[in-house]
Amino acid sequence: RILILDFGSQYTQLIARRIREIGVYCEVEPWDIEEKVIADFGAKGVILSGGPETVIGDDAPVAPQMVFELGVPVLGICYGMQTMAEQLGGKVIHAKEHEYGYAQVRARGHTDLLKDIEDHVTPEGHGMLDVWMSHGDRVDAMPDGFKLMASTPNCPVAGMANEDKRFYGIQFHPEVTHTKQGQRIIERFIVDLCGCEKLWTTENIIDDSVERIREQVGSDEVLLGLSGGVDSSVVAALLHKAIGDQLTCVFVDHGLLRHQEGDQVMAMFAENMGIKVIRVDAEDYFMDALKGEADPEKKRKIIGHSFIEIFDQEAGKLTSVKWLAQGTIYPDVIESAGSKTGKAKVIKSHHNVGGLPEDMKLELLEPLRELFKDEVRKLGVALGLPSDMVYRHPFPGPGLGVRILGEVKKEYADILRLADHIFIEELRAADLYDKTSQAFTVFLPVKSVGVVGDARRYDYVVALRAVETIDFMTARWAHLPYEFLEKVSNRIINEIPRITRVTYDISSKPPATIEWE
Ligand code: XMP
Repeated sequence: RILILDFGSQYTQLIARRIREIGVYCEVEPWDIEEKVIADFGAKGVILSGGPETVIGDDAPVAPQMVFELGVPVLGICYGMQTMAEQLGGKVIHAKEHEYGYAQVRARGHTDLLKDIEDHVTPEGHGMLDVWMSHGDRVDAMPDGFKLMASTPNCPVAGMANEDKRFYGIQFHPEVTHTKQGQRIIERFIVDLCGCEKLWTTENIIDDSVERIREQVGSDEVLLGLSGGVDSSVVAALLHKAIGDQLTCVFVDHGLLRHQEGDQVMAMFAENMGIKVIRVDAEDYFMDALKGEADPEKKRKIIGHSFIEIFDQEAGKLTSVKWLAQGTIYPDVIESAGSKTGKAKVIKSHHNVGGLPEDMKLELLEPLRELFKDEVRKLGVALGLPSDMVYRHPFPGPGLGVRILGEVKKEYADILRLADHIFIEELRAADLYDKTSQAFTVFLPVKSVGVVGDARRYDYVVALRAVETIDFMTARWAHLPYEFLEKVSNRIINEIPRITRVTYDISSKPPATIEWE
């Protein structure tokens, strides 16, 4: 296994995902983690990530000195290389020229890390790599014992290596896909130099998890809040495999789900897989609680609280349950950990509905805690969940509650569900669903005029929203073909009598958010 120490780069999680894709287990810890954790971890190699700080100055984040005394290979990336250089006796300076974006480095292929790895060869016979750079400082003098591994005109030390100690530093980012040979470089490091075996496979993950869950819960009963989303669905399938009938799921239908979603969840889990699922039809309760409320944040809170209340009520009836399972995944864990000093901390707001019913004396079971989303999806497919479900677009916890602008009414939700279903059905039919990251319909409670036959009609408006994004922090509106939009619009207006107008949202994020509320 590999330990990644995080200095706050936006790419740190990518490093971890690349390593996992290769088939090796790794974890991310903040750079100022206690030495005991490092000693206990038993890493076969350590990676020091990039970061936004400068190593020049007194309170700069540094790698724990023991990292260099473990006797295992260490790879510093960007900031990680700079702090390695400083800590081992080299020198880092502010570069006159900042480098950001594509660059070509001359790879001095005589080091064991980069040997035979190159994108092309110059007429003089130098191996070159196309890489992604993002830095202001640069290493000016290498520590004793290091030799030059890569360079660019702007950055004479773009890579350095001490092959006796197996310490390596690279200024560019091998974890981003812009660095074409990045995956090979990472693989060379973790497999050839650190000697890790590729044992982190979906089958092994399932086998290990099943064994661990059985050990943990013994013959106890486990409760899971099933939402129909990917994470809780995969937890359900995994727990069912591990402990069968000891699992009971509670599925709260708040009346703000997509078209026929409640029935689909029941068909999938209860009927097909034989999992015990208690469905609570709480539509009336939620509609009542939401009556008269138009403020988006208050709506979210009401839905969140109501959800916990209903879930609590149901859970309270299950007196023999000892464990509460949750679909926490690894990015949640990394993001809520952060570093002690607050430096290098990833800030991201979570807007998940719900939480733990506080007075329930249940132990927490989080079988996906170590997994990234792509790993969770692969697990889901291997456990027999349909890939349509596993690769479905994300759906917010408050559901249609934030896709009906202003006050939520059942009438609106019913209209919206039908319109949204048509949009999604057409996206799938046109093979566009997987090309968008998230697509949905928004209900606008305004009436606009339309002509039906000879009569004028005033009815509602919906907006179609479709975006392309990698991280959901920024997003571009999807450039769907006009013919496609026309077809969707015609179908919605013809098939849903209460809608007279369809619009398409062409705002990108920022400043517009993906959802309308
Ligand atoms: P925004 O609208 O903030 O959305 O650009 C980014 C991503 O977050 C989802 N989202 C939510 N998810 N509860 C959730 O569980 C919420 O209240 C919520 N609001 C937005 C949104 O669907 C998108 O994927």
